[in-house]
Amino acid sequence: MTQHVFAWLDERLDLSGLRAFIAEKTVPKHRHSVWYYMGGITLFLVGVQVATGILLLLYYRPSAGEAYESVQFIVSHVEFGWLIRNLHSWSGNLLILMAFVHLFSTFFLRAYRKPRELTWVTGVLLLFVMMGFGFSGYLLPWNELAFFATKVGTGIAGAVPLVGDFLVRFLRGGDDVTGATLTRFYGIHVAILPAITTVLLGVHLLLIQRQGMSVPPSVEKREKAGETIPQEPFFPNYVLHDVMWWYVALAVLAALALFLPWELGKKADAFASVPAGIRPEWYFLAMFQTLKLIPSHVLGIEGEMLGVMGFNVAAVLLLVMPFLDRRAADGRPNRIVTLAGILAVIYLIVFTIYGYLAA
Ligand code: HEM
Repeated sequence: MTQHVFAWLDERLDLSGLRAFIAEKTVPKHRHSVWYYMGGITLFLVGVQVATGILLLLYYRPSAGEAYESVQFIVSHVEFGWLIRNLHSWSGNLLILMAFVHLFSTFFLRAYRKPRELTWVTGVLLLFVMMGFGFSGYLLPWNELAFFATKVGTGIAGAVPLVGDFLVRFLRGGDDVTGATLTRFYGIHVAILPAITTVLLGVHLLLIQRQGMSVPPSVEKREKAGETIPQEPFFPNYVLHDVMWWYVALAVLAALALFLPWELGKKADAFASVPAGIRPEWYFLAMFQTLKLIPSHVLGIEGEMLGVMGFNVAAVLLLVMPFLDRRAADGRPNRIVTLAGILAVIYLIVFTIYGYLAA
């Protein structure tokens, strides 16, 4: 029976060809190999987000009158609802952390160099989309902290020159953060961003599949000098290693979800006084803290506008990184790029901690 089904499918889908391809596929093995599993962990967490997100959708209600109560219902009445909500919240945060780790590991291993420029570009776009997921998802429980943080967060978009006012109204669905903002964020979170992610992730993974895994420049040099770099079969060896890392990620996630429940806080009230300690999610803290430190005017230009423009320039530089580092394309070391990467990591860590302590 199984053979029959396989033969039927094989005739239509060329499964034997696919099986032969997977059986032949190999992955290079060297002392930096561990960093090449970070993308796989990120992918696993995307899977967790999709599965838990769909389950939350069954009970969540996207209106100012019902959102908070529906989340309260999920965590207190729906069977295992508390676990699903905790997993979704923690996994979303771990996902962004792992995307950053993956970004910096591909950065320092120069995996973006020719011919993988587009893998990098789709990766950076995916990170921005993941941060968009975090920003839009934060408001959905309609609690006090998220409400005021979203007010501040969307307000910052107003500092963009020329289109600032339009951007704020576009994000909020009006002049202020209201139920219309919630409905809008919901649409962005469950339809627009998932659609964009599907396309970007599809291209990212297709490119990796087509081009195979890169090796770091140091290993490439040894290869060019005639040394044979060991390879391991993709299936089952590499896949099993990947799964082992997923298992570790799942253990961390389960421990966080069980022992550190995600708080719900008080229901949002537009007329309540602004609570103390308003701050965004940790991955926006470095930017938030930087904006707070810039004086209100620098050389006659509004400080916040200058900061926001600075971040936009940094985002564009990050996106076009493979095209700037011409030395990497030729396999030559580039100390300025390495130094910029190290400074970026230090800046992000120091300012995130600073922002956390200062809030
Ligand atoms: C949702 C987010 C992402 C997912 C699910 C994802 C997934 C993956 C996977 C499974 C791989 C193959 C294994 C590996 O090399 O780690 C990979 C490779 C790669 N990713 Fe990502 N990635 C994401 C975001 C990013 C980001 C933010 C960047 C950097 C800007 C990036 C750049 C790359 C590059 C350059 C490679 C090729 C590595 C090589 O061939 O050596 N990815 N990604």
